[in-house]
Amino acid sequence: MKKFGIILVLVVISGIVVAFLLANRTNDGASSPSRTSPPPSTSSEGNSATNTAEEVQITIQNFAYEPKNITVKKGTKVTWTNKDSVKHDVASDDGSAAGGPKGPLLGKGESYSHTFETVGTFNYHCTPHPYMKASVIVTE
Ligand code: CO
Repeated sequence: MKKFGIILVLVVISGIVVAFLLANRTNDGASSPSRTSPPPSTSSEGNSATNTAEEVQITIQNFAYEPKNITVKKGTKVTWTNKDSVKHDVASDDGSAAGGPKGPLLGKGESYSHTFETVGTFNYHCTPHPYMKASVIVTE
């Protein structure tokens, strides 16, 4: 019982010491800038996460867009890359007037990027293969 009490006191004391050190640290002006510097590195790691994604990749392969239908936030840059040896493009169903994509014919390994600045649903297709259909939904 007595041993347990001593251990308890030691734990409490070390807890106070740790708390004191932590409090001292946060009061230190030098640690505040180091607190602001981690976010950039976290955001670059977070680029693959959906909520911070400002760039999305779509693969054109086997006469299809993959993923076919996506939802992105306004300002997202979408890049299509053709992996077929056949040429494909990215053409808005209603032209590009409403802010949709309208790219050139892409050879194998070539890419086209479009940044969606307008909220809405953008249906697109491939000009040489009108049955290749897909869509991008842009939200606020
Ligand atoms: Co095509």
